[in-house]
Amino acid sequence: MKILVINGPNLNLLGMREPGIYGSETLESINAELGRLAVTLAVEVEFFQSNHEGAIVDAIHRAVGSCQGIIINPAAYTHTSVAIRDAIAAAGLPAVEVHLSNVYKREEFRHRSLTAPVVLGQIAGFGAAGYDLALRGLVRHLQQ
Ligand code: DQA
Repeated sequence: MKILVINGPNLNLLGMREPGIYGSETLESINAELGRLAVTLAVEVEFFQSNHEGAIVDAIHRAVGSCQGIIINPAAYTHTSVAIRDAIAAAGLPAVEVHLSNVYKREEFRHRSLTAPVVLGQIAGFGAAGYDLALRGLVRHLQQ
């Protein structure tokens, strides 16, 4: 079983980016931890980060036929991208949306997610642990 883990714009700057909101862990260390959890769960994970909407759409398309599920933090595109929402819907793979911060207690423009209606579930506010929770939830769903 292979899961594609997608991180959107500015998440390459984790560690130095507003640590009070997003924590001090780098994306590299979050991915390393997730990779270790994947070994425990006996699944494969592939990581992709991009600051570009179209590149994220392309990555979702590539997952069809090669991956069984998607974990995605679309970052700012969560609130704006019809293209990423449509790509997730078109791919037809179970997806989990992750946000490090609790977007619902932040600015109002972060309260709306265009992707939430097309994913299996959403995890927000648990920091880096949210990715681990997403992987556990997605694997359990796929094994049902
Ligand atoms: C985020 C929340 C988004 O509103 C923001 O634009 C991000 C990160 C999060 O992980 O909390 O870049 O997706």
